[in-house]
Amino acid sequence: MPKAISPRHLELDEIIADLRELEAADPEAEYAIQENIAFFEAQRSVVKFAWWLVGRRRRLDVSRMLELSDFALPKWQSKLYEELARASRPEFPGLVRPLVDELIQLIEMHSGNQGGGIYLASIGCGPMEIERQLFERCRVLGIEQNLWIFGIDSSAMAFDCAAKNLASSGIDLCRQTDLRRRPKVPGVYFVQIDAEHFAHSWDGGNFSLLYHSRLLHHVPKGQRSELESHLRRICDSYIEYDDYQTAASLIGPIITAWRQPVLLNGAVISWTRDRGKVQLRSDYGDSVQFFNPPGAYLRVNSRTDPED
Ligand SMILES: C[S@@+](CC[C@H](N)C(=O)[O-])C[C@H]1O[C@@H](n2cnc3c(N)ncnc32)[C@H](O)[C@@H]1O
Repeated sequence: MPKAISPRHLELDEIIADLRELEAADPEAEYAIQENIAFFEAQRSVVKFAWWLVGRRRRLDVSRMLELSDFALPKWQSKLYEELARASRPEFPGLVRPLVDELIQLIEMHSGNQGGGIYLASIGCGPMEIERQLFERCRVLGIEQNLWIFGIDSSAMAFDCAAKNLASSGIDLCRQTDLRRRPKVPGVYFVQIDAEHFAHSWDGGNFSLLYHSRLLHHVPKGQRSELESHLRRICDSYIEYDDYQTAASLIGPIITAWRQPVLLNGAVISWTRDRGKVQLRSDYGDSVQFFNPPGAYLRVNSRTDPED
């Protein structure tokens, strides 16, 4: 009797077939598509993957590399959001914990100082697991009625995933299309728009806190500082959160996400595009803090701080 094909191998077949189809339609992304096909082919066995890690991974041209979720493949974007939300929930390794802790501290400071509304913007919000955890903690503190949270994401698939994720904590997600004013009612809102376009179009007053988590490696290197300048103009405090390169932040996901090819792709390919501690210190000086686990850094700047 022929051996049954595992769901993981079926998923790998499906991803590779979709990438091959895309290759014909999108010649500009040829390099990144071919490297992704090689990545998923390598996942067919532990030995092939180890070979990819020590060989092909080291030769990647990271400036031309993209993750599976960067391609126009809605099915795999949704899959990544579901898996990312699930992986971000547990206390260990606490993928988003340092950011949520920092945001809670700043929110408490703002609610003490102003007593009025607190306006948050999450750029590249994806499945909004950060905001779900944040809202739950604000509920415990009794300050959710003063909170406006805006999730901004360019992906059309993010809204449904975020709405489902937030609904698991009884939080409604509303679509916001008017960028000229803030909604009157506190709550969680979603704007489907590119970050740069949002920074230029938003005319609804300054955000108390504006942050992005695991967004930067999706933005081409040459455009990052310009994006930051534009975003800093529309907020009082600006927070950057992302992973940095450590051996543990590469090996950890390989072990925990081996059965989830899409999540593993996001973790490993973004790792190749991340900066190391030394580079981050040289880029940001003392304003950067490191957290291990989960192998992430955090940088907070207020409106009056000079740009790095
Ligand atoms: C890896 S996910 C991170 C999701 C979430 N912030 C978190 O940390 O769990 C990156 C998200 O950024 C979004 N994104 C990438 N480039 C963007 C851009 N230029 N403008 C807005 N969103 C963007 C993607 O659609 C995706 O949802």
